[in-house]
Amino acid sequence: MADVVTRDDLLQLGARPAPEPAPVRRRWPPRPTGLRAGIFGVGAALPERVITNADIAARLDTNDEWIVRRTGIRERRNLADGQPLAELAARSCERALIDAGRSAADIDHVIVSTITADRVTPGLAPDVALRIGAHGAAAVDVNAACAGFLYALDQAAALVESGRARTVLVCGAEALSRLTDHEDRGTAILFGDGAGAVVVAGGEMDLGCGGFELHSDGAAADLLYAEVDERKLRMEGSEVYRHAVARMVEATFAALERAGLGPTDLDLFVAHQANSRIIEAAAAELGVAPERVALHVEHVANTSSASIPLALWQAERDGQLRPGDTVGLAAFGAGFVWGAGIVRWKERVHVCA
Ligand code: UT7
Repeated sequence: MADVVTRDDLLQLGARPAPEPAPVRRRWPPRPTGLRAGIFGVGAALPERVITNADIAARLDTNDEWIVRRTGIRERRNLADGQPLAELAARSCERALIDAGRSAADIDHVIVSTITADRVTPGLAPDVALRIGAHGAAAVDVNAACAGFLYALDQAAALVESGRARTVLVCGAEALSRLTDHEDRGTAILFGDGAGAVVVAGGEMDLGCGGFELHSDGAAADLLYAEVDERKLRMEGSEVYRHAVARMVEATFAALERAGLGPTDLDLFVAHQANSRIIEAAAAELGVAPERVALHVEHVANTSSASIPLALWQAERDGQLRPGDTVGLAAFGAGFVWGAGIVRWKERVHVCA
């Protein structure tokens, strides 16, 4: 059974004081257009190659028991040598489109959150748009590390709410195996590759998908980074751990307050899947019951900005998530950047602007 660390534990362990939380503005202001954004379909794709804890323990000074106890991770997926990440991303987008009952022709904007695009430039999004047949659609990459999917979702919702786009594909796609130091036992065990996507369009449900608490603290950049030349993730793990719990809890409380809800209103809490202990600690501080928490690190590890859509997809397959559910999303990553949002899971009616 993994340990659960509370905020008091973290403070006693000497956690650095948090930056001042942003003031909470009560309730979201009415959208000037009256339009609401909603989430429709979800899709995911994982590479076939499985790397188990035993595979890593065979070449590094680590073991399955330590990795499972400290992280909840048993295995991760890696892209095959030479396999483009765009291929995986496009597959997740095609599945999301099918789930949403939409076609590529409906898409007028593709946003891909990634820190591991196939090339420095162009970004992943134009390649994804090409592969799925969304010819001529706007296509842009977002880099907000492990919080990138929330930032991309926020931008998609803003495009729909403003009337600038009708249907937006939001994809989180990562090949963290390309940024991992495979000789460093402190990080080699943590990361995996994967892609997940959702379709955002005009919706009718009250909460929909609009209203995220997003923040940053650039002063903490040296605690989690990858340099351009070295291209290896470096992390002060336990320091990042403490901040991840505190910031995701703060942001989720703020997002709940702005939505006029409390933690017990959440049908599911889906946090960035970095480490099961981080997620369990955050849920315990929020007061969300364990059965309402998505835990999806066991077979995929930390897939950075792909982790939230992958967890949503898995939760739906497991029957943990149903249309109309109220879902708390929270993420934290390099920057630091972090955030949270409360969304209603799955619109059925597509409202055209
Ligand atoms: O996605 C962006 C956000 N990222 C995160 O949120 C990750 C945050 N951090 C974490 O998940 C955890 O800090 C880790 C899983 C990275 C590490 O767990 P920890 O409980 O914080 O361990 P630690 O770094 O404090 O290390 C404890 C001990 C050390 O040994 P000593 O100094 O106590 O003798 C490490 O050297 O565990 C040792 N250790 C390992 N032992 C076996 C570190 N990595 C390993 C390993 N196998 N793979």
